[in-house]
This record gives sequence, structure tokens and C-alpha cells, in this order.
Amino acid sequence: MNILGVKIGFGLVIAIGLSALVFLIIVFSTFQRPPEKQVQIGYRGVGMVEVFHPSTVAAELASNQVPPPDDKLDPSGQKSSEAYMNVQVLKDLDSNEFLRLMNAITTWVAPQQGCVYCHDQENMASDALYTKVVARRMLQMVANINGNWTTHVGTVGVTCYTCHRGNPVPQNIWFNNPRSSEPHGLSQDKLAKNYASPVVDMSSLPNDVLSDYLDHSDEIRVIGGSALPDGNRHSIKQAEWTYGLMVHMSESLGVNCVFCHNSRAFSVWDQSTPQRVTAWYGIRMVRDLNTQYLDPLTKTFPAYRLGPTGDGPKLECGTCHNGVYKPLFGVSMLPDYPELASISQTASAAAPSAAPPAEAAPTAPANQ
Ligand code: HEC
Ligand code: HEC
Ligand code: HEC
Ligand code: HEC
Repeated sequence: MNILGVKIGFGLVIAIGLSALVFLIIVFSTFQRPPEKQVQIGYRGVGMVEVFHPSTVAAELASNQVPPPDDKLDPSGQKSSEAYMNVQVLKDLDSNEFLRLMNAITTWVAPQQGCVYCHDQENMASDALYTKVVARRMLQMVANINGNWTTHVGTVGVTCYTCHRGNPVPQNIWFNNPRSSEPHGLSQDKLAKNYASPVVDMSSLPNDVLSDYLDHSDEIRVIGGSALPDGNRHSIKQAEWTYGLMVHMSESLGVNCVFCHNSRAFSVWDQSTPQRVTAWYGIRMVRDLNTQYLDPLTKTFPAYRLGPTGDGPKLECGTCHNGVYKPLFGVSMLPDYPELASISQTASAAAPSAAPPAEAAPTAPANQ
């Protein structure tokens, strides 16, 4: 073939055509189409901007709708503990409201399976099914979140639907990743690194960060207080783990780093956004929920629900947030089910005593 006076073989034309096709496929499948919307979240000129794509936001809005509440029932005037045989948590709730809540729980957690997902139909009082035992503990966990963790969930709070969204197993749960099952060499298997893992958005960062930071309470700080080496012993390895967690948090909320940080100084609290303080409490809340509620349930779960190292399912930021900066875009379901906010006295876990670091005095950034 003769193009612009240059003789080109047919094979070369096909090769060029195929490369162009591959290039176009990569461009169209990995980039999002403009226009995008930019939202400034810090002071003017500091470049703290979130980028939203209208099509993604529309899809998120559609999949984050709250199911309509059931009609209210007239109270029976009888407490559940008197009306039923084996009520341990919702004792003081009116027995009719109790049934309305059972209906809602079924819609939120097991709509396909119905009451029998947790109940022996012959004997509703029986605790034979593990799902009922777990569900009772979940009621206490929800009470703990709504009653003791207002530093994070505010008055918006959570219901079973926040995490379950009509599934018995919430979409975003995690297990410990096996760390040293393979010999470690250049690929740093021992650090659980270099595996494309969705936990850290397919980056080469360590992929077992959740067990260190959201189940155990390992130190997240890595940046020293001054420009000179002054006793900060944190290594690059530790920084990688911190970054792994940060990538995970950003992905879970569908935001980038500047949603919480002014990236010129990641560690400085008074240049961070108020959301960083909410997130600080969120980390402590998730640790509390995993250690007080999910971990102790490990023995209750059947073997097929356990992870590769025999640990139980655990929750993370995305379990509630599902890729959105406020779960269900901040809509509260509690006004329709106030009992889920008022059973806090039955939560056995101690009230959280942690407070953010002393230097945490963030001022709200003005949007100008
Ligand atoms: C996701 C699990 C789950 C589902 C689904 C569920 N329940 Fe329950 N149910 C529970 C738990 C947990 C208790 C015990 C509550 C407590 O101890 O405070 C309970 C207790 C009861 C009791 C009291 C039984 C007794 O005598 O002690 C009744 C009645 C009941 N449920 C009815 C229903 C009905 C009707 C449905 C379906 C519309 C339903 N439940 C669906 C978890 C569930
Ligand atoms: C903060 C998130 C969260 C909330 C809120 C929550 N759950 Fe769960 N739930 C979980 C996680 C995580 C699991 C473990 C998943 C698994 O079973 O593998 C779980 C498991 C369960 C299971 C066991 C399902 C199975 O098949 O193994 C039941 C039943 C359940 N939850 C009921 C409830 C009920 C009822 C409520 C509301 C009172 C509730 N949950 C609220 C996170 C949550
Ligand atoms: C949702 C809020 C949020 C987002 C998004 C976020 N961070 Fe963080 N970041 C925090 C909080 C809270 C801490 C402090 C954690 C603690 O000490 O418990 C922190 C700590 C850090 C630290 C350690 C600072 C120090 O004092 O040593 C670094 C570095 C960091 N973040 C980097 C990032 C990067 C990079 C991103 C984006 C990939 C990011 N963060 C996204 C909330 C966030
Ligand atoms: C139990 C459910 C739950 C879990 C788990 C959870 N959050 Fe949240 N989070 C909420 C709710 C509910 C709100 C909304 C509170 C409000 O509007 O006042 C919220 C709000 C936030 C906000 C403030 C958003 C804004 O625009 O003001 C940040 C930041 C945040 N969460 C970060 C996190 C991080 C990081 C994690 C994991 C370490 C996490 N959350 C885990 C329920 C949860």
C-alpha cells in the first residue's frame, strides 16, 4: 500500500489500526466523560476541590433511596417482655410496635427469606437459628451507635438498612488477609503488598491495613512534628500502611484526600476540614464495633461465614457509607423507628471515652 508516497505493508496498517482501537477502548473505559462538577471545599486558592461526575452522582442517588416506612400501629398497651416469651433487648417496646419493627427488620435484612430467616416457624421464641442470635446482638450494636457515637453519626444515626440494604450479608465486609502464607522475597508478600487488592483501590499498598487500624488500634500518625529528624521513628513502611488506610477511607466515602486534609500539610488539624474530626471519631467507632460486637460473634457464625484465616466478618467505613460521603446521603430513618435510638440503656458496651488529639481544633473552612 502507498500512503503519502511511503510504501507500507498491509500488516503494518492492521497493526496501527488495532493499536488505535486498543487506545480508544482504554480511553473510553477508564476515563469519565466530561462535564464534571467541581466543588470547592477549602479556602480560595488552596486547591481543595472535589470532582463529581453527574452520571455517577445520579446512579448513587438512585441506589441510596430509603425504603418507605410501614404504617404506624395503634399501641397494644402491653410491653413486649410481657406479651412474648423470649424478648431480651426490646423488652420495654410496646408489643404492637415490636411487630412493626420485626416487619421492618425483615424488609431491611431478609426480604426474600422472610421471618423464617431468623425464626423457627413452630416456635418464635426459640434461639435455635444463629441468625436470630446475631440479629439480637445487632439490635444492641445499633443502640450503641445511635446512643454513644453521636460524635460520628450525629442525630442522623443508623438502622439495619444503613448496612444491610436488603441483604443478609452487607455488601462491604472484610476478613483478615493471610499475610505470610507464601515465602517472602522481592514481592514483599510478608507485608501483604503488591497484590492488586480492592481494599486499597488496586494500588500496591499493603492490603491488610483494616486489621491493624479498624480491628486493632495501631498508630496511624507517621509525620514528624518538625522538619528535622527529632525522634520520629516512623518508617516508610509504616507510612505505606497509613496511606493504605487513607486510600481505603477515601474510596469508601467516594471522595479524595482533600475532603479531610489540606494536602500541603496532611497532619495539621487546624488546616484540615471538620470532616476529618468526624472521620477521627469514625475510626474509633469502627474499632469499638468490631471488637465489642463482630469479633465476639465469630463462634456464633457458621464456618461458611468465616474468612480464610478463620476470623469472623467485620465492618469498615464502606459498610455504612457504601461509596457516599454520608450514608443514604444523610437521610435519617430514625424518626420513623425512634425505638432504635432509645434502647441505648440496653447496650452493654461501655460508652466511648476517647477524644481527638488536643491540637484538634479545626475551624470550618469558608467557601469563598
Ligand atoms: C433478622 C432477624 C429477624 C427477622 C427476619 C425477624 N425477626 Fe422476629 N425476632 C428477632 C430477634 C433478634 C428477636 C428477639 C428480640 C429481643 O430479644 O429483644 C425476635 C423476636 C420475635 C418475637 C418474639 C418471640 C417470643 O415469644 O419471644 C416475635 C413474635 C417475632 N420476632 C416475630 C417476627 C415476625 C412476625 C417476623 C417476620 C415479619 C420476624 N419476627 C422476623 C429477629 C428477627
Ligand atoms: C454498622 C453496620 C450494620 C448494622 C447497622 C447492622 N448490621 Fe447486621 N451485620 C453487619 C455485618 C458486618 C454482619 C456480618 C455479615 C455476615 O453475616 O457475614 C452482619 C450480619 C447480620 C446477620 C447475619 C446474617 C447471615 O446470614 O450471616 C443478621 C441476621 C443481621 N446482621 C441482622 C441485623 C439487624 C436486625 C440489624 C438492625 C437491628 C443489623 N443487622 C444492623 C453489619 C451491620
Ligand atoms: C474521611 C477523611 C479522610 C480522608 C478522605 C483522608 N484522610 Fe488522611 N487522615 C484522616 C484522619 C482522621 C487522620 C488521623 C487518624 C488518627 O490519628 O487516628 C488522618 C491521617 C493521615 C496521615 C497521617 C498524618 C500524621 O499525623 O502523621 C496522612 C499522611 C494522611 N492522613 C494522608 C491522607 C491521604 C494521602 C489521603 C488520600 C488518599 C487521605 N489522607 C484521605 C482523615 C482522612
Ligand atoms: C455505623 C455506620 C457508619 C460507619 C461504620 C462509618 N460511618 Fe461515617 N457517617 C455515618 C453517618 C450516619 C454519617 C452522617 C452524620 C451526619 O450527617 O451528622 C457519617 C458521616 C461521616 C463523615 C462526615 C461527612 C460530611 O459531609 O460531613 C465522615 C467524614 C465520615 N462519616 C467518615 C467515616 C470514616 C472514615 C469511617 C470509617 C473509619 C466511617 N465514616 C464509618 C455512619 C457511619
